[in-house]
Amino acid sequence: MNIIDGKQIAQNLRASIKLKVDTLDRKPGLAVILVGNDPASAAYVRNKDNACKEVGFYSEKINKPVNTTQAELLSEIERLNNSDKIDGILVQLPLPKHLDTNSVIEAISPKKDVDGFHSENIGKLMQNKPFLRPCTPKGVMTMLEATGVDLVGKNCVVVGASNIVGRPMACELLNAQATVTICNSKTKNLSTKLKQADIVVVAVGIAKMIQGDWIKPGAIVIDVGINRLDNGRLVGDVDFEFVKRVVGWITPVPGGVGPMTIATLLENTLTAYEAKI
Ligand code: GUN
Repeated sequence: MNIIDGKQIAQNLRASIKLKVDTLDRKPGLAVILVGNDPASAAYVRNKDNACKEVGFYSEKINKPVNTTQAELLSEIERLNNSDKIDGILVQLPLPKHLDTNSVIEAISPKKDVDGFHSENIGKLMQNKPFLRPCTPKGVMTMLEATGVDLVGKNCVVVGASNIVGRPMACELLNAQATVTICNSKTKNLSTKLKQADIVVVAVGIAKMIQGDWIKPGAIVIDVGINRLDNGRLVGDVDFEFVKRVVGWITPVPGGVGPMTIATLLENTLTAYEAKI
């Protein structure tokens, strides 16, 4: 069994971004907007802001009150769309219920959409002509590359079909010429499907859902889940202690996909910067 060390791969990626940034006159700029004060979202935004500073980016952390109106949020996005200092704009999700998430995403200039959630960027990914690619799935592709395993023709099962992870993940694997099955909460005989998979990516948000005897010996298992148990411990969607005994490669939680998502956000900001000049 081999661990895919997301923390280390992310650190290497950040170091190579920093080297590049050190050569630039104008620094790449990222704006991160948080609406409200959800503690988990606030922590993610803080981590993103710190990561920017570490690689030498210009960063704006914008905290809006929970009662911010749609018009106020759209006007902030418009200001950032027009700012010469800003190459990437990220609105932390989920938004408070009174706001329309989809129209907020569509208001971000596709050229600055470093989350890769705008319909134009999702469309380009679907056509295998990607520009800005959603961070978590792109980070998973970087981790898969690090294993050195050839993805062409491999059987992949993606568990979870969200816009943020599952759907773009399936698309990334398809673009890499793998054979892809996308499962959701209504899928029948999930364990039978998983048993045939060379590569499994799980993003469902249910602690320890994936069991050791569901996995094909030697498979690669990527765990996108981050769940907090009652005792405060963080665990993934995979029952790590048992699954690790059968896999070829596995990502830990924490220290797996999480650090890769943030490093990939920086990578996307650099891509947006380079496309602009
Ligand atoms: N909330 C959970 N994941 C993400 C993400 O990748 N981007 C944004 N903007 N919000 C999120």
